[in-house]
Amino acid sequence: FFVRLAVCSEGPRAMTDLRKHATYEVGTVCFYEDEGDNWRICAIQKVAGEPPKQAFSVRTCTIDGTLEADGLTATVPLDKLAPLSEEWLAPVKDLLHMVTLHNSLLLEQIRSRYWRDIIYTNIGPIVLALNPYNYNLPLYTDDNMPKYIEERAEALHGGSRLPTHTWSVAHNAYWSMVKYSKAQSILVSGESGAGKTEAAKIVTKYLARCSTHFASAAEREQARVITDKIESASPILEAFGNAKTLRNDNSSRFGKFMKLQFSKNGFLHGCYTINYLLEKSRVVGHAKGERSYHTFYQLAAGATEEERERYRLQDPTAFSWLYSGVERITEDVQA
Ligand SMILES: Nc1ncnc2c1ncn2[C@@H]1O[C@H](COP(=O)(O)OP(=O)(O)OP(=O)(O)O)[C@@H](O)[C@H]1O
Ligand SMILES: [Mg+2]
Repeated sequence: FFVRLAVCSEGPRAMTDLRKHATYEVGTVCFYEDEGDNWRICAIQKVAGEPPKQAFSVRTCTIDGTLEADGLTATVPLDKLAPLSEEWLAPVKDLLHMVTLHNSLLLEQIRSRYWRDIIYTNIGPIVLALNPYNYNLPLYTDDNMPKYIEERAEALHGGSRLPTHTWSVAHNAYWSMVKYSKAQSILVSGESGAGKTEAAKIVTKYLARCSTHFASAAEREQARVITDKIESASPILEAFGNAKTLRNDNSSRFGKFMKLQFSKNGFLHGCYTINYLLEKSRVVGHAKGERSYHTFYQLAAGATEEERERYRLQDPTAFSWLYSGVERITEDVQA
């Protein structure tokens, strides 16, 4: 075993001191924190009152101070302002390379990447992903996958020359497993609707392809059969464990631990899934606008006349446990 330590002579500056010494007057371009905890770039339009109880009227603008035509306005106290310098917002690919640290600057970095359709950002070896709600962003479509796979073990320890991706995490895990013969873990975390379930699917698909990219046609075929099985298990698990919530139309209401098994020569040859902490109470009730588990609606939508008769099935709106009068029922329920 060995431990790699990165020692930096000069780390990023925390914003605390910079905030203490910042001055704000009419025309100053800075950040303000709105009621939704968003830090927005703004220009100060008016300062009222005397320190320390000043009120600053601000309006959103671009970094060069150009006011936004349909921008937002607000009046905020001093502690809702944070200074801004163009140099602190120099684009970085890894948030660890930022020269000054503050929520406002972190948010602005990832926001400006997002508007350029760059949804992945490194924080050291961690990949921060923003949900794009779009599977066709040119940088990330599946036809880019071979480029990542072909980097092989050279991409380990930050050696990749490609834009970061969820695939990068899968790639590093795969080659660390092969190179050091050690089991690897990938943790996907985030709030509801952040894209964890989709990220886990992206990781699984990549690992399957990566493990057989250089294999014979027969070995690739064998792995394809296993991958198909893993992929087709998802809709079944999701039917019984996912439901529409106010935050996510396909919210996982259970925890999932997936163990992908590889043979000694590195081929994917099995998958083992443990489910835990299912939200059982949803079977007998759910919040307004939400739904019970998909499977009940799918059953009602897809049953034959004979099954309807046999199981006494009716339209979901007839069952109070499935419908409380406000939720959408028919959309996205695949029978
Ligand atoms: N990488 C992605 N590309 C495109 N769309 C995505 C991606 N990730 C997520 N989405 C969209 O966001 C929705 C919510 O994502 P997902 O179900 O993965 O969230 P989650 O983090 O698992 O939420 P929960 O904790 O509620 O289960 C998906 O149904 C999909 O429409
Ligand atoms: Mg989920």
